[in-house]
Amino acid sequence: MSSRPSHRRLAALAVTLALPLSLIGEPQASAPIGAAASIPDDPKADRFVDDLLAKMTLAEKLGQMSQIALNQPPDKTPVEDHVRRGEVGSFLFTTDATRINQLQHIAVEHSRLHIPLIFGFDVIHGFRTIYPVPIALAASWDPAEAERAQSMAAREASAVGVNWTFAPMLDIARDPRWGRIMEGAGEDPFLGARMAEAQVRGFQGDHIGADGHILACVKHFVGYGAASGGRDYEESNISDEQLENVYLPPFHAAVNAGAGSLMSAYMDLNGVPATGNRWLLHDVLRERWHFSGFIVSDWESVKSLTTHGFASGPQDAATRALNAGLEMEMTSSVYRDDLPASIKDGTVTQATIDQAVRDILLAKYRLGLFDHPYADVANAPSQLVTPEQRQASRSVAASTAVLLRNQGNLLPLSKGLHSIAVIGPLADSKPDTMGSWSLAGHYADTVTLLEALHQRFPGGVTINSAKGVEIDRGAPTIFDAQFQSPKPTLTTDEARQTEFHRAIDLVKQSDVAVLVLGEQQSMSGERASRSSLALPGRQQELLEAAVATGKPVVLVLFNARPLDITWASEHVPSILEDWYPGTEGGNAVADLLFGDAAPGGHLPLAWPRSVGQIPINYARNITQIPEDPDHRYWDGSSLPLYPFGYGLTYTSFTLDHLKSAPTVAAGFPLAVSVDVTNTGKLAGDQVVQLYTHQRSGSASRPIRELKGFRRVNLRPGETKTVSLSLDTNELSFWSPQTHQRSIEPGAFDLWVGTDANATDHATFTVTK
Ligand code: NOJ
Repeated sequence: MSSRPSHRRLAALAVTLALPLSLIGEPQASAPIGAAASIPDDPKADRFVDDLLAKMTLAEKLGQMSQIALNQPPDKTPVEDHVRRGEVGSFLFTTDATRINQLQHIAVEHSRLHIPLIFGFDVIHGFRTIYPVPIALAASWDPAEAERAQSMAAREASAVGVNWTFAPMLDIARDPRWGRIMEGAGEDPFLGARMAEAQVRGFQGDHIGADGHILACVKHFVGYGAASGGRDYEESNISDEQLENVYLPPFHAAVNAGAGSLMSAYMDLNGVPATGNRWLLHDVLRERWHFSGFIVSDWESVKSLTTHGFASGPQDAATRALNAGLEMEMTSSVYRDDLPASIKDGTVTQATIDQAVRDILLAKYRLGLFDHPYADVANAPSQLVTPEQRQASRSVAASTAVLLRNQGNLLPLSKGLHSIAVIGPLADSKPDTMGSWSLAGHYADTVTLLEALHQRFPGGVTINSAKGVEIDRGAPTIFDAQFQSPKPTLTTDEARQTEFHRAIDLVKQSDVAVLVLGEQQSMSGERASRSSLALPGRQQELLEAAVATGKPVVLVLFNARPLDITWASEHVPSILEDWYPGTEGGNAVADLLFGDAAPGGHLPLAWPRSVGQIPINYARNITQIPEDPDHRYWDGSSLPLYPFGYGLTYTSFTLDHLKSAPTVAAGFPLAVSVDVTNTGKLAGDQVVQLYTHQRSGSASRPIRELKGFRRVNLRPGETKTVSLSLDTNELSFWSPQTHQRSIEPGAFDLWVGTDANATDHATFTVTK
């Protein structure tokens, strides 16, 4: 019988007692009132799984706890034999519907207990149709858009028989040197939590097993984003206060949203590997949050417990991971190989194994795999890169772009232009339009900006294009085999100079120049940390030469981390951050350049001026001389180039009549509203943001914290009253003094505005 009490039961208790959850001691990191929708209890499922479990041998149980990467089989014997013997519960990286059905057929028809396999894949920002990278989805500040993108991605993946994605990544990241900052929602736990819930809903639908949806796997639990020095895989050292108030909340929100599985992180967290950390995997996840999904390791991270200097060898690694609560091992095989000895010597109990297998089988049951294990092979191709997928990819991409500068309203460009120079190494690169972690995407499907502009202007407008410079990561990546950016073709200095000058000549001959610069897709992602934020290669030189021609220049950025664009922020009239926009990226950027769509995204992280400012997240405690935050360094500004939450559009807005009640009881909502008026000539989106500050308490609190936001669209001249309900449960925090999470009654500041420097101010008091 399932022994885990569900969150739903506790929530129901709170409702019965008419108490805000925060006052009954249930940690409420970031679950908005009434939004908890964790996995419901299902006694029928429990009975089914318990009956099955009773029939299983130890080897079959360990098989369910083992995942194999198809491209890296465990030994020389055919994987089919392993499946037939029930030695594998899941495959990773199998994306061909026919192959999936072959393997599934062996599991379902020819293994002793007919238990279906679960097929996992990194559906990070799209499957075959690629959507903007996750940091871009966060830049939309529109959870509904993030949900739509992941729901469309799930539809394609499920069509080929993939049932499980290793996403969303919920790691808060405040160091853009870390390459995987691309896969998360940026620096803020509140925005991160909203994006977490939205993406879980997108992947899973309204329940696990919903048609056309797949199981989510939130990762990497927890603290991977704080890798020391931004160096991928390095240890993380995070204070209890930061862990509780910053790094855990997005995971808690995802658990409350019903996430069906979770992946442990690779690295040491405060000296204990996350994969062997019982406090994290059991005390926090199971005891505190009542998580009832299953827990998978990251790639070989069970075996790696020995590498950490934590486990004494493979058996110790397997024993300690399992006893910590880790239930399925990704790719290494110490569970299969070494746990039988641990059962024998009593360091692992049968009950612990059974609980792990129960959680895995329950996920398979909830997904409906026992009833419908197969992909519809005949139908699958017609479900991929459909016009509907393309349309969604294009509009989501447009909604994620952030306009950083637009001097003299250079953008949108006039449709009456005679000539455009389209310059830069990323203007016509399909891989670099798609971005990293788009392993099932096809280059041929992807529309680059240059292609989109040629299509848009079949005659009439002259398009002058040149790369100008080339860029190259140089150092190899583990993904080179699957996914490559174009390699340099200019092999001599003379050839490079000729190309550079050709590009600048084309700028001189054109009415306007669009420079598409940034990073190749392989420059961010896993094992893609950088020690510099400079534009790689000679791109900066190219940009300066283009501006020096006197022609109007638009800088379009393809990248997934802030880059050092301090010079550009003073000299380039228009800067449009387009991240890696995906399959329809070129069309989306063309829509934005010519005003068929308007940029409305805002930054999900503060944008530093230089690498030396890292970390520069807005929500931090401040001590001496708070009125002079710009002079913390004597040799340069200590303010970011662009604040968290910043973004422009093609129109202008005013915010007036901020209204909020002066007092609110802890655990209840505070109504806040503001009138937003579009004062410009074009329609546009604005993201209204609400920040708070607790004036005093048991511990110092950050100068500002995001606690609400809403993206709204307004026609020219239109005024909307935007209501932002402040959920006072969001004011609760874990105090390093009391070691408790609670809402501390007292005085608070509140600001409403359009970035973290919001100036419309009010105060309110929280009462008991
Ligand atoms: C390792 C990565 O850290 C993880 O995020 C990913 O899901 C797995 N590999 C599987 O590809």
